[in-house]
Amino acid sequence: MELNELVGIPTETVYGLAANALNEEAVIKIYRAKDRPSFNPLIIHLPSISAIEPYAVLDPISEKLAHAFMPGPLTLLLNKKDIIPDLVTANSKKVAVRIPQHPLTLKLLDLLNFPLAAPSANKSGYVSATSAQHVIDGLGIDIAYVLDGGLCDVGLESTIVEVVENAVIMHRIGAISAEEIALVSQLKVIDPAKSDSPVTPGQMKSHYATNVPLYIGNIEAMIQEHPTKNIATISFNKSYDGLINGHQYVLSPNGDINEAAQHLFAVMRLIDDFHFDIILTERFPNEGLGRAINERLERAQAIHK
Ligand code: TXA
Ligand code: MG
Repeated sequence: MELNELVGIPTETVYGLAANALNEEAVIKIYRAKDRPSFNPLIIHLPSISAIEPYAVLDPISEKLAHAFMPGPLTLLLNKKDIIPDLVTANSKKVAVRIPQHPLTLKLLDLLNFPLAAPSANKSGYVSATSAQHVIDGLGIDIAYVLDGGLCDVGLESTIVEVVENAVIMHRIGAISAEEIALVSQLKVIDPAKSDSPVTPGQMKSHYATNVPLYIGNIEAMIQEHPTKNIATISFNKSYDGLINGHQYVLSPNGDINEAAQHLFAVMRLIDDFHFDIILTERFPNEGLGRAINERLERAQAIHK
């Protein structure tokens, strides 16, 4: 294998499309394979907190967060050191750093003497991949290998935070909640959508989108509005009456929000493959990972509005 090839890697959140972060030729291949705009920077993946030092500056609060949540579904925006190519950070002085909680990928990272730049392993704007097969389905021709680490545990992308003066900016919600970040950092947590701090370049309004139009609302009422359509529904724990043409996907019959999160992207991809006319879904309980699910569904809906 050449040193500038792309490899699919499992993490506990979603699969990554990985390459040597210090090799610009390899990093360019990531942007090309994903059709990703060059202004949208990449996360670098490392095996341990002590491995961060050559690449980024770990300020005291970020260090606290790292010790509390890494390895795990948290990404920290840190001041970058010169060794990280500007291509990786899209010319930002900050680099996104993550230590994934997956035995196979931690072992791989341990063997390497460079970080892996890895965005989610999907075409830009499409639903993230939570199995090795998803990676092959979307990007197969562009990658040398996929490490098959099974189904991702969490199923939604990492929480992204940035420690600024007297506050922490939450750029993306994921399995680590704002409350947990506030508790460990002892700082106020700011949602950039509700403040004038810059929004993360990748957090575009439409994202995670299926090709089939997706709508969020009261599923029963929406079924009545579309009598002739071939409908797929995605619900939390209940199925609904009145669906003649279609199929219901219940993400967690036992009402476990973590299980629902784990299955969401796989179900969205499945529905796309079966060519339904529309996807009807509902707001999930707005707590824990339910908040991240709702945020992803809203972005998936935005493209069709
Ligand atoms: O769970 C995850 O974070 C997965 C796994 C593979 O680690 N990765 C992932 O990468 O979701 P991606 O590229 O799909 O999303 C990364 C987000 C993007 O919204 C990007 O704009 C933001 O992180 N980001 C990366 N570097 C940044 C930087 N220097 N400044 C601001 N935002 C940054
Ligand atoms: Mg992504």
